[in-house]
Amino acid sequence: MTSYDESLQFKSGVTLRNRLMMSPMTTTQSFYNGSITRDEIDYYTQRAAGLGAVITGAANVEDLGKGWHGELSIAHDSMLPGLSALAKGIQSQGAKAIVQIFHAGRMTHREVLNGEQIVSASAVAALRDDAETPRAMTIDEIHATIDAFGEATRRAIQAGFDGIELHGANTYLIQQFFSPHSNRRTDEYGGKTPQERYRFIDELLQSVFKAVDKYADRPFIVGYRFSPEEFEEPGIRFEDTLWLLSQLRDSRLDYVHVSLNNYDRVARDEKHADKPLIAYIHETLQGKLPLVGVGGVRTRTDVQAVLQDAELVAVGQQLLYDPTWAVKLAKNADDAMVTAPFEEAVEVTPLNRPLYEFAAARYHSVINS
Ligand SMILES: Cc1cc2nc3c(=O)[nH]c(=O)nc-3n(C[C@H](O)[C@H](O)[C@H](O)COP(=O)(O)O)c2cc1C
Repeated sequence: MTSYDESLQFKSGVTLRNRLMMSPMTTTQSFYNGSITRDEIDYYTQRAAGLGAVITGAANVEDLGKGWHGELSIAHDSMLPGLSALAKGIQSQGAKAIVQIFHAGRMTHREVLNGEQIVSASAVAALRDDAETPRAMTIDEIHATIDAFGEATRRAIQAGFDGIELHGANTYLIQQFFSPHSNRRTDEYGGKTPQERYRFIDELLQSVFKAVDKYADRPFIVGYRFSPEEFEEPGIRFEDTLWLLSQLRDSRLDYVHVSLNNYDRVARDEKHADKPLIAYIHETLQGKLPLVGVGGVRTRTDVQAVLQDAELVAVGQQLLYDPTWAVKLAKNADDAMVTAPFEEAVEVTPLNRPLYEFAAARYHSVINS
């Protein structure tokens, strides 16, 4: 079995020194316009020690794609100096710096968008209590958004990042185009089958790789994050995701990254309930692309368990309250790891107020769901 401290070379040529990545986690610490703060740079730099790579929290590629206050933006060239300082901070610890790029689509609010109506593939509200009804994007807007992902990739390259991760998970815009719940379009960006609804993703990948070919003068990582299944009816079923992966495994992507809260979760789909869904995902990739596993990793045993069905391990909340966790792992200082539950654990490492509140709200909504 792979050991977490083995290096890994991606298809693009970038090598990670080990198999550990910081899972993308929004910190809600950016300024009102999405430019980065010193607090945020310090936060990432502190946590990069001992990791193969840090994936930043989601950064919006367009102003209309902003999901919440305090979010990082990669939508304007004016963000470049701040983004560059962020990449340097992460790299100063020997970790590769990957920025996650996204558009929130219907998962935002008019109030966050300075009064603009929220947008999505179709005018269908998300199934949550405070959801607003979005406006369906025009074809021109879709093309502009696809270009914006390419432009965000250019900025990531120019800022000195080692890569980007496309955030195709957690019900944001990329997933909204693939989902039959949020995409009811009857034009070329919609359709009844996953094949038809894949068009947006396909064009997004072309836009991103065009930017890589044009601007990168060094190997540059492109990863893709996805959620395995939706609860909505209609919604993305696990089989649709396996089909998506059968497309992505033959693409130029360097890795795919599943989004899960528990790495051993079993699919809701009865045909795929004999083992954890990460095992089916890994099989579907046929070794053509490395898989990043995630969800509840806190100990060495968890790391080893994930590596049975994945090539890389992403660690989220443990790094929030245990910033040097990866260093402890390397030094066999497992006894020094913070093992307490969330509320006690966050006492150990002071988090600033916005991040604490965001993380606490998210933690409680996940454990109560
Ligand atoms: C505070 C917080 C913010 C998050 N923000 C993002 C994000 O911006 N992008 C994303 O893909 N996932 C995000 N996630 C999900 C994590 O990347 C990860 O998948 C999840 O927390 C499970 O891993 P863990 O148990 O190691 O934390 C966030 C999670 C937390 C706790």
